[in-house]
Amino acid sequence: MSEKSFPGTSTGAPRINIGISDEHRAAIAQGLSGLLADTYTLYLTTHNFHWNVTGPMFNTLHQMFMTQYTELWAAVDPVAERIRSLGHSAPGSYAQFTQLTSLPDVPSTPPKALEMVRILVQGHEAVARTARSLFPVAEQAGDEPTADLLTQRLTVHEQSAWMLRSLLEE
Ligand SMILES: [Fe+2]
Repeated sequence: MSEKSFPGTSTGAPRINIGISDEHRAAIAQGLSGLLADTYTLYLTTHNFHWNVTGPMFNTLHQMFMTQYTELWAAVDPVAERIRSLGHSAPGSYAQFTQLTSLPDVPSTPPKALEMVRILVQGHEAVARTARSLFPVAEQAGDEPTADLLTQRLTVHEQSAWMLRSLLEE
């Protein structure tokens, strides 16, 4: 019997067999769950600041935060769906995100405008560190789609951190 034949006698979904070991799939899914929680937390923080920003920079920051939260909102979906493609379930509750994220929760009292910017710089940098820390396992596993996703997320977070940081420089 050829190894290429389809396992036609079993019922239900076939076992996942994409050429990445169970251990690697689990490790990458765990890491991506942290990235998802970080991204969602930064999304919520940025949308909150869009609502609550005040002061002479209102127009600039209200608009900039909208651009950023819209991008972050769109970004959680491919991360979650990569976790599913690796055979694991995607976290999607406040309890799970709180447990998984490396970011602090949104401040309960709205900070001053420039403090918001500072918090968002630190948030984008933290998500970038989370994404960067996953490269070794993705590369070891030959998981190119995850490495590609991480590259895209790093590009956005490092660019956003630079733009926000620039607002704080003389
Ligand atoms: Fe709005």
